[in-house]
Amino acid sequence: MKICVLGLGYIGLPTALLLAAHGSNVVGVDVKQSVVDRLNHGELPFKEPGIEDLYLRTGDRFVARERPETADVFLIAVPTPLDPATKVSNLSYIRRAAGMIAGHLKEGDLVILESTVPPGTSERVVIPGLEKSGIAIRDFLYAHCPERAIPGRTLQEMVYNSRIIGGYDRDSTDQAISLYQTFVRGEIYRTDARTAEFVKLMENTSRDVNVALANEFAKLAEECGINVWEAITLANKHPRVSILSPGPGVGGHCIAIDPWFLTQNSTGCRMVSTAREVNDSMPNYVLQITRSLLYSIKNPIISIFGVAYKGNVGDTRESPAFKFIQLAGNEGYTIRCHDPYVRDFPHPLMGAADAADGSDCLVILADHDCFRNIDPAELQVRTKFVVDTRNILDHERWIGQGFAVRVLGDGSQVYPAAPGEGILPAGLYSPDAARPVATPPPVSLLTPDGRERFL
Ligand SMILES: NC(=O)c1ccc[n+]([C@@H]2O[C@H](COP(=O)([O-])OP(=O)(O)OC[C@H]3O[C@@H](n4cnc5c(N)ncnc54)[C@H](O)[C@@H]3O)[C@@H](O)[C@H]2O)c1
Repeated sequence: MKICVLGLGYIGLPTALLLAAHGSNVVGVDVKQSVVDRLNHGELPFKEPGIEDLYLRTGDRFVARERPETADVFLIAVPTPLDPATKVSNLSYIRRAAGMIAGHLKEGDLVILESTVPPGTSERVVIPGLEKSGIAIRDFLYAHCPERAIPGRTLQEMVYNSRIIGGYDRDSTDQAISLYQTFVRGEIYRTDARTAEFVKLMENTSRDVNVALANEFAKLAEECGINVWEAITLANKHPRVSILSPGPGVGGHCIAIDPWFLTQNSTGCRMVSTAREVNDSMPNYVLQITRSLLYSIKNPIISIFGVAYKGNVGDTRESPAFKFIQLAGNEGYTIRCHDPYVRDFPHPLMGAADAADGSDCLVILADHDCFRNIDPAELQVRTKFVVDTRNILDHERWIGQGFAVRVLGDGSQVYPAAPGEGILPAGLYSPDAARPVATPPPVSLLTPDGRERFL
């Protein structure tokens, strides 16, 4: 069996290596020459637990190339980004991949699409692109097999997660199942291609909507003067309730994007897009909290701890940190960033001590485990404010060091807000928390009711 895998990124490369390690001859294809060159020199383009060992196990059954060649199976794992301006999927990579395969397609070949796509893309875009070969569907086989592995556990999940395999017809599904059975140990469920496309999007949309609900609970809890974290823990004692955690917004290249793929052609559905808006507005909400703490500080400095989109990973794709930084920068705040996991970020990254040095407010955006152990006594801040959007700090310890701790969703810390004035800092401050000296406000804003408010 010879397999061409198009796209050697986070999904395509591990899949290609798993197939090769389990006996297939695999040609990995990527349009980026640097990726191909590195792989052919034994270098892996990214880190992932177990991937180096897997690469060694492939022996001479894996080779990287810039163009596809004749094969029995073609597997597409190219990007499907969201156009940020229109919130519509960009299918140009898929179109190009289908076109590249068409030049080599022969009767009886199987083509598998793993990339995440809006429902109907297989029938409307990929199959017509493949048919430009002159071979009609049914004379070649086609299946959509969405990938659901998570970075950091990719290999484990590719092997042990269940799979949804949606063939164009029964033969296509059977052939695709046989291929995946060479390395998948989880259950394999069969369906049609369009349902498989829909299922993948539903899974991530469900998580996004549930995070939005938790975020709304956090805001409501603040209005009601209770602690949402305690309330969620108690509600989740109910056997049929499972509320997720609030936070500064949803990131990553799947959960923040897939709901738009699901709804881009819809005219009447509102909950999914509303949930997206709720989650996308969380950086604004966190900034509102931060602003309310810093209102009297001259030339305030905010130190962001954690620019990754979630804890214990270095992935910043769609991270809420981007929006927070842009909004805060536009209001005149000086921003410092610290993230021990992230290597590449448009804003300079600093060590924890340097990022905190002279700062007026630490804002915890990602729940990296290492942040739990930060010793507040070692931070040379100017003003002792910390906003914990993930509820991960040892708050008593920080308060013990004189910090005013503001936890997202903890209404027990918040005075009732005056109309248009947002959330005011509250009584949780320890007696010796540094209180800033009032200075002329550097920035003015319009409040929702149209009045001007000075920060
Ligand atoms: N990364 C994940 O955790 C994950 C999880 C589930 C689903 N997905 C989906 O899988 C797909 C791939 O995602 P990824 O994270 O692996 O992307 P990626 O950006 O890591 O890698 C994609 C690779 O494809 C290459 N490429 C682009 N066009 C090509 C073409 N025509 N021929 C050959 N190579 C081409 C790029 O150069 C790049 O190296 C996307 O649809 C994504 O939504 C990703």
